[in-house]
Amino acid sequence: MSITAGIIGCGSITRYRHAPEYKANPHVSKIVFYDRNPERAEALAELFGGTTAGSVEALLNDPEIDVISDCSSNEYHHIHTTNALLNGKHVLCEKPLSLTLEQAEGILSAQEQSGKKLMVDHNQRLTKAHQEVKRIIKNNELGKPLTFKTTFGHQGPEHWGFNKSNSTWFFKKERSGLGVAGDLGIHKIDLIHYLLDDEIEYVSAFKGALDKVDENDQPIQVADNIVCSLKTKKGVLGSASFSWTYYGEEDNSTIIYCEHGIIKIYTHPDHQIEVIRSDGGKVHYQLESIQTNDNQSNTGVIDAFIKAVRLDEEPVVTGHDAFSSLKVILGILEAADTQKIVKI
Ligand SMILES: NC(=O)c1ccc[n+]([C@@H]2O[C@H](COP(=O)([O-])OP(=O)(O)OC[C@H]3O[C@@H](n4cnc5c(N)ncnc54)[C@H](O)[C@@H]3O)[C@@H](O)[C@H]2O)c1
Repeated sequence: MSITAGIIGCGSITRYRHAPEYKANPHVSKIVFYDRNPERAEALAELFGGTTAGSVEALLNDPEIDVISDCSSNEYHHIHTTNALLNGKHVLCEKPLSLTLEQAEGILSAQEQSGKKLMVDHNQRLTKAHQEVKRIIKNNELGKPLTFKTTFGHQGPEHWGFNKSNSTWFFKKERSGLGVAGDLGIHKIDLIHYLLDDEIEYVSAFKGALDKVDENDQPIQVADNIVCSLKTKKGVLGSASFSWTYYGEEDNSTIIYCEHGIIKIYTHPDHQIEVIRSDGGKVHYQLESIQTNDNQSNTGVIDAFIKAVRLDEEPVVTGHDAFSSLKVILGILEAADTQKIVKI
C-alpha cells in the first residue's frame, strides 16, 4: 500500500516529528504540506521533498491523499480534524484533541460517521521505557500500584514553536486554551491512564501564571504552572506538576510506588528505568532516551498511525483515550479555578 500524507500546519511539530517520520516510513510515498503561511509549507516541501496545497479545501478534497496530520494550533483541531474525517481521510490529530468537550464530541462523532481512523498524538505511550513499565505493571511484577508522582516541564513554548517570542499563540487564552495543562499536562494524564490501566476520577489543583509575560510585558492569560492531586477509579493516589518554567533542564519523570517496590522513569541521565524492590535490589534499564525539545528522535507515532491505517487496526491512542485525558485536564483547571475537588 502506497500512502500519500497531507499535513495541516507547518510549524515545529511538523518540522521535527511529522515530516521526518512520514519521510522515513516505507509505506508513505508522498507528503503534501499546507500552512496558512504558504512560505512555511514551501520551506518544508523543499526540506523533506513534497508538494504544497494552496488551501485547506484543496488538501482535504485531494483524492490522492489518504491520511492527514492535523498540526494546526489547538483552536483549529476540531475544525480541521472533523472536516478531514468527513472528507474520508484517516487523521492523526495533535494534542490536545480540542479545547472543549463539545468540540471533542463533534470530532468523535465525525470519526464514527466516517469509519476512518482517528489517532491522537499522545506519544508518551510509545516510548520504550513507558512500554516496559506498562509490561512490568501488567505482569504484576511489583504488585499493585498504590501511589505515583509525575511531572512534565521545560523552559516554555516560546523556545519551541515557530514564533520564538513572547507573542506565541501558546500564551493566548483563545488559541492555546488550556495553557501548560493542555500542552504538557495532558501527556502525563494520558500516560497515567495507560500505565495504570485506570482513569483519574477526582482532582484538586493550584495553578498560576507565575513567570511568563506576553509581548506587552503582562502576565500571560493561561497558567504556566499547575500542581495537582489525583485519585483514580481504582483508588490509586498521585500528584502531578506541569510547568513551563523549568529553566535549565526538562523534567519528564514519573515514579510509581507499588506494593513490592518502586519504578522510577526518566529520573536518571544514564538509564531510563530504575526498579527498586522492597528487599533493596535494584535493576536499571537502558533503553533509549526520551525525545526532548533539544533531542528529536523518532517517536514512533507516525509508524503506529500508518500501521493502524494499513492493517485496519485500532490506533494505539484513540479519540476516546484523548477525550478522557481532555476531560481530566478540564477538571484540573476547574478545580484550580473553584478551589474545590472536582469529580471527572
Ligand atoms: N505531541 C507533542 O509532543 C507536541 C509537541 C509540540 C506541539 N504539539 C502540538 O502540535 C500543534 C502545533 O504546534 P507547533 O509546536 O507545531 O506550533 P507552531 O506554532 O510551531 O506551528 C503551528 C503552525 O500551524 C499553522 N497553522 C495554525 N493554524 C492553522 C490553520 N488553521 N490552517 C493552516 N495552518 C495553520 C501556523 O501558521 C504554524 O505554522 C499544537 O496543537 C501543539 O499542541 C504536540
